[in-house]
Amino acid sequence: MTEIRTIGVIGLGAMGGGIAQLAVEAGYDTIGREVSGELAEAAAGRIGHFLTRKVEKGQLEQADRDVAVARLTTTTELDALAGCDLVIEAIVEELEPKRVLFAELDGICRADAILATNTSALSVTEIAAATARPERVVGMHFFNPAPLMPLVEVVQAELTSPETVESAAAVGARLGKEVVRCHDTPGFVVNRILIPLLNDCLRVLDEARVTPEALDSAMKNGAGWPMGPCTLVDLVGIDVHVHASEALHAQLGEPRMAPPERLVEMQREGKLGRKSGQGFYSY
Ligand code: CAA
Repeated sequence: MTEIRTIGVIGLGAMGGGIAQLAVEAGYDTIGREVSGELAEAAAGRIGHFLTRKVEKGQLEQADRDVAVARLTTTTELDALAGCDLVIEAIVEELEPKRVLFAELDGICRADAILATNTSALSVTEIAAATARPERVVGMHFFNPAPLMPLVEVVQAELTSPETVESAAAVGARLGKEVVRCHDTPGFVVNRILIPLLNDCLRVLDEARVTPEALDSAMKNGAGWPMGPCTLVDLVGIDVHVHASEALHAQLGEPRMAPPERLVEMQREGKLGRKSGQGFYSY
């Protein structure tokens, strides 16, 4: 198994920022890459904030928080990831930009480095095919919010070596996650089930003529969900959910996998959920 000491995280949005937070807390030297210095600084600020909250709540020692924060460096240059043992990609949920990025990383990173994608529903095999090292490309799919959700799916693509799977699984375990190993099927395990289910929920809004508040209350109180579907989709991001739905629909063709029209409309209007200040709810 490859020994992982330094982790690169590309894209420090909700998912990448959460993954970088987990990595520094677990003791990995971590290099976070963003497209601008301002975005990188904002992400580092959010990580510092969440770790400070843990100190305030007695879940983390101040000294450990400070050491963890110091393990994070940020950059806007991909070349800065040349020394990483593992790079986890968490950029926009679209195939072409991911393939372009993986081809670039393939030229920058050491031949024995592992390249992981946090894709929700795209084919890891197709992403890996953009590199000359598909045996060292793997899916590491975290759930939003990554620091709080206990699962990581470790996805074995067509050519991923068993050693790469085990190295990624070992990192997942050290990040404190429950690891589920799976194959590269559309949506893997959770999203294959959760995305069409959430789409059903959102169609019920119109069919049963209920408000988002009523639907959320129904699923929390009638099905034991920790948060209602509208709150959850706002958290995940309307755009992320639409992209994941489109990817599943393209691969499996079931009508219920297609994003509900209401969501596509919200995306067009820039109502992307919590991150844009407006989704089903206002933030
Ligand atoms: N990063 C780091 N820390 C965070 C955080 C984040 N994004 N968000 C919250 N926290 C911290 C905060 O410090 C917060 O404490 P304070 O408010 O005191 O500062 C602390 O976590 C606890 O937050 P909450 O009080 O909100 O915690 P909760 O007990 O209400 O649980 C939850 C929150 C775990 C998110 C729970 O509501 C839940 O399980 N919801 C379901 C989430 C889910 O299903 N996620 C999967 C989405 S699907 C997906 O991700 C797949 C995909 O590919 C699209």
